[in-house]
Amino acid sequence: MAYTDIKYKLKSVGKNVVIGDNVYIRYPHLVEIGDNVIIDEFVYITAGLKLGSYIHISPHVSIIGGVEAKLIMDDFTCLTSGVRIVCTSDNFSGSDLTNSTVPPQYRPNTQRTTVHIKKHCAIGTNSVVMPDVTIGEGTVIGAMSLVTKDLAPYGIYYGNPVKRIRERDEQSLLEMEQRMINDLIKYDQCPLIKPKKILSMDFKCVKNKCVYWDGQCTIKKEGL
Ligand SMILES: CC(C)(COP(=O)(O)OP(=O)(O)OC[C@H]1O[C@@H](n2cnc3c(N)ncnc32)[C@H](O)[C@@H]1OP(=O)(O)O)[C@@H](O)C(=O)NCCC(=O)NCCS
Repeated sequence: MAYTDIKYKLKSVGKNVVIGDNVYIRYPHLVEIGDNVIIDEFVYITAGLKLGSYIHISPHVSIIGGVEAKLIMDDFTCLTSGVRIVCTSDNFSGSDLTNSTVPPQYRPNTQRTTVHIKKHCAIGTNSVVMPDVTIGEGTVIGAMSLVTKDLAPYGIYYGNPVKRIRERDEQSLLEMEQRMINDLIKYDQCPLIKPKKILSMDFKCVKNKCVYWDGQCTIKKEGL
C-alpha cells in the first residue's frame, strides 16, 4: 500500500516519514509514528507499534503480535534487515494447542506482550527478540543473536542466547546526541541559516529543555 494511502489510516504520523510501498501493516489504527522515520520495503507488522523519532526499520523486518501486543521503539533506534520482533508467542511446552487458527480457549498460555527498545539501541541483522523483553538504553545486539530476557543499558551483546560482551560508550553517545540536538535547534531557529526542512523534533527538544534562541545563533536561555 502506498504511503499516501496508509498515512490516513495510522493512529498518528509525524513529519518526514517514509514508508515503502510493500510494507504490510495489519492494524494501522494501532500504529503511532514520530518524525524522521523510515520503514523500508517488505516490512511486515501485525502488532501495535509506537515509534519515536529518528528510527529506521530495514527491509524484511517482521514485528509479530496481534492487537493485544505492542512494540515500542524510542528515539534513535533501528532494526536492521531481517530482524524478527516476536511480541506474541504460543506456549510450546505442550500445555496448549498452538497456532492462530486454534480458538483462544485452547491456547490459554499464549503470551501477548509489549517489547520495548529504548533510546540508542540497534538490533543486528537477522536477530530475534522474544516476547516481554526490554532492551536497555544504548544497548546494541550483534548479528544473528537471540534475545530472550531484558538487557541492561549500554552494552554490546551477541550470541544465542545473547551475552554481554563489552560496554558501549555512554558518554560519547549522549554527547553526540546533544550535539545533534543543538544543531537541529540552531538550524531550525536561527534566521541566518535556512534549513531545507523543519524538523519537528526540534520543537520537542526546545520544549523539553526550555532552550530558545535570540536570532544570533546563540542560546539565550536554558533549563527553565
Ligand atoms: C557484535 C558486533 C558489534 C561486534 O563487533 P566487533 O566488536 O568489531 O567484533 P569483532 O568483529 O572484532 O569480533 C570479535 C569476536 O566476536 C565474534 N563475533 C562478532 N560478532 C558476532 C556475532 N554477531 N555473533 C557471534 N559472534 C560474533 C567474532 O567472530 C570474533 O570472534 P573471535 O574473537 O573468536 O575471532 C558485530 O560483529 C555485529 O554483529 N554487528 C552487527 C552488524 C549488523 O547487523 N549490521 C546491520 C546493518 S547496519
